[in-house]
Amino acid sequence: MERRSWAEPYKIKMVEPIKMTTPSEREAAVAEAGFNTFLLKSEDVYIDLLTDSGTSAMSDAQWGAMMMGDEAYAGSRSFYRLVDAVSDVYGYEELIPTHQGRGAEHILSQILIKPGDVIPGNMYFTTTRFHQEYAGGRFADVIIDEAHLPASTHEFKGNVDLTKLSELIDEVGADKIPYISVETNVNMAGGQPISMQNLRETYELCKQHGILVMLDATRAVENAYFIKVREAGYEDVSIAKILREICSYSDGATVSSKKDNLVNIGGFLALRDPDLARKARSLVVAFEGLHTYGGMSGRDMEALATGIREMVATDDHVRARIGQVEYLGNRILKIGVPIVQPIGGHGVFIDASLVLAHIDQELFPAQALTAAIYRDSGVRGMERGAVSAGRDPLTGLNRRPKLELVRLTLPRRVYTQAHMDVVAESIEAVYENRAAIRGLRFTYEPEDLRFFQARFEEV
Ligand code: F0G
Repeated sequence: MERRSWAEPYKIKMVEPIKMTTPSEREAAVAEAGFNTFLLKSEDVYIDLLTDSGTSAMSDAQWGAMMMGDEAYAGSRSFYRLVDAVSDVYGYEELIPTHQGRGAEHILSQILIKPGDVIPGNMYFTTTRFHQEYAGGRFADVIIDEAHLPASTHEFKGNVDLTKLSELIDEVGADKIPYISVETNVNMAGGQPISMQNLRETYELCKQHGILVMLDATRAVENAYFIKVREAGYEDVSIAKILREICSYSDGATVSSKKDNLVNIGGFLALRDPDLARKARSLVVAFEGLHTYGGMSGRDMEALATGIREMVATDDHVRARIGQVEYLGNRILKIGVPIVQPIGGHGVFIDASLVLAHIDQELFPAQALTAAIYRDSGVRGMERGAVSAGRDPLTGLNRRPKLELVRLTLPRRVYTQAHMDVVAESIEAVYENRAAIRGLRFTYEPEDLRFFQARFEEV
């Protein structure tokens, strides 16, 4: 029978009870956490939409594979299963395993960036930019302008603006640009894809100038889905094939396996150039672990190798994954709450600058809205706005990003449609009472990646 809906292509075999909290318990918890949802205890959270990172439910095949983990310090069989999976599914021959995505970003930044270099990218990601700056480089945003406009319905808001990129190359010189960092399904833009055509053109432009193209392929499968449903010529191409083509326009990739790859921990740096891979291997042993485990146990690598194959084994998996995100997004849109459009691949992003127009960006409206949603229902989201953007390293002033968002991120294969209904009802209640929400100021501001551990009080 023809399927009509995106219903899940799996059934539930094991359940994990979650706690329902009372309003007074949540009031105490949010104050204790300094209005930062990263500092809440997960026990105090009812529906956890903080992140899709490392929160996926693994399959029976993955759990089964874990029992087969080879825990040898060197040359683990599980490592070679992982090498084969990455080569078959992504098409990269050189694999450097890492404990998670930022480990791969660290190694890549250290082997390619010299002080004074500029690294263009289609919008920043927090840890990626941190490692670029830590290596002495400077990030330059070359994403199309539409990416910064929540209401723009551009179908590929993750696209690189080729004019901005050309101008940057003219301005600083290709020799100062070791590589461009191209993120698939751009997280900070709201889970927005890059088109195959744009990726191909970016690759061609970079080749002309001898600039490498490094993908952040963390959510490349979700990007492949959007290419399939939105880009002419890909309707009948499998997700597996689209993914391979995406990777073909790159010289390597960093991947946080905690997303697409359906595992709770892990990541890798994949490369084509064996010389570059050699450099990466000599660093990975210092920072992550031996080059045949890179911070993962043998069983982690087994679960990962299995997850990589599973994510593209059928197109139904990603269709249901994004179908659930769209279900939640459409329910929230119906209430009249402004969200980033089109609805993204891994979550729904609420435009806090519009919802809380009475709160200046210096008083962190997205942080305040995130805390308010938790208070209402125990649903935990994440701030993706001025707190995440941090301070400009040159001026020391707070950056004022155009996007001031609350992210409701969906773990893969974890929650049901009924959970999504509860989330939408909570958003509706908070939206109705938005006038009472107050801005926040820091009581503790960490120097780097401040959003993780900052504390606030209401003004
Ligand atoms: N790149 C992207 C696009 C990411 O979204 C993340 C993590 C990383 C790299 C870093 O990977 O966490 O494995 O070290 N994103 C998580 C999130 C934290 O919630 O968006 P990691």
